[in-house]
Amino acid sequence: MNPGAGLPPLRVAVIGCGGIATSQHGPAYQKLAGVEIIAGCDIVAERAREFATRFACRAYTDYREMLEHERPDVVDVCTPEDQHVEPTIAALAAGADVLCEKIMAHTLAGGQAMVRTAARTGRFLGVDYNYRFFPIFQEVKRRLAVGELGQLALVTAYTHAFCFHHAIDLLVWLAGPVVTVVGQYTATEDPRYHYRVQCPDFVYVPSRNVCLTLRFASGALGVICASRFDDLHANMLRVEIVGEQGRLTADSIVIHDIIGRLTRWPEKAEITVDAGTERGFNVAFERAIRAFVERVRGAETDAATGEDGLTVLEIEHALKISQAEGREVALPLPRIGEEPLEREGPSRHGRW
Ligand SMILES: NC(=O)c1ccc[n+]([C@@H]2O[C@H](COP(=O)([O-])OP(=O)(O)OC[C@H]3O[C@@H](n4cnc5c(N)ncnc54)[C@H](O)[C@@H]3O)[C@@H](O)[C@H]2O)c1
Repeated sequence: MNPGAGLPPLRVAVIGCGGIATSQHGPAYQKLAGVEIIAGCDIVAERAREFATRFACRAYTDYREMLEHERPDVVDVCTPEDQHVEPTIAALAAGADVLCEKIMAHTLAGGQAMVRTAARTGRFLGVDYNYRFFPIFQEVKRRLAVGELGQLALVTAYTHAFCFHHAIDLLVWLAGPVVTVVGQYTATEDPRYHYRVQCPDFVYVPSRNVCLTLRFASGALGVICASRFDDLHANMLRVEIVGEQGRLTADSIVIHDIIGRLTRWPEKAEITVDAGTERGFNVAFERAIRAFVERVRGAETDAATGEDGLTVLEIEHALKISQAEGREVALPLPRIGEEPLEREGPSRHGRW
């Protein structure tokens, strides 16, 4: 049963009508009962028009005007990473619950301001950490929750650089709070590997490599290694979890087939994952957006919150401190006070 059936329609407006809004978010909302896409906004008028035509809604080029005219229940922020903070804060202040694409902000202060605004307005802020909703990781989470592996020792992820921040969220979601961070990364001179948006406080998408070690409050250790030279069609993400009662290996996950293979060791038993019939990346978006909508409607779900998004930013920032100062960094980082935010502008300096 679709949980929105019979409820008043949830009116969704989208800010940023580019690739991911059009190919994933729009279709995912369309699949949900009781959810209506009412408007799309893009600073490029043609993109806003195309989105409006495709999803039968109204088009805007100024999100403030859209918020004022439409008064949406939900705003979905799909702008580039360095253009998340202002639309998210404006939407929360306009009374909407917000789903913001990852990485939630390009600065730590920006992420903190988003979380503060959500708390002040009492609205729900979600961040689209959709890897939690890969069926294979839902299965791993279920098994860890019942203590199947006993006391955890190691939680490791080997991933493409594009998925590095997703892997951070995933490991924290699976293994719990992180108390210290230590790590290193190096960059390549080759501009082909430099991601289009640079985030001054974070590594985000390393151009060459990164190795990050996490100490969890439980005493387990986590390692995430990522390289930009990897191929998303050959390796997107591989996760291994070792506990005193055995090991789970989630591998064979690639961009066009996120179902992968889950194996339990030492039995070498392949675990069947309840994944439905589809194998594409869309599965993760559909399930993440569904969980966000259910959360907005009051259900407990695995949807990543603004606080979860901020945790990723803190770990990313601690990694930069660790490399710069050659030391382990304790979390949580001290939160910056209530100073006003600088206006957002593209931040493409300092290439990693
Ligand atoms: N969760 C995932 O797995 C996943 C996958 C891919 C992309 N993403 C994220 O989705 C976001 C968007 O990525 P994309 O690939 O769709 O980018 P994109 O460039 O295709 O689209 C972004 C759109 O935002 C518009 N825009 C920029 N500033 C705006 C503003 N102030 N108001 C209105 N529109 C504005 C641009 O004109 C563009 O059309 C990024 O944060 C990216 O990291 C997430």
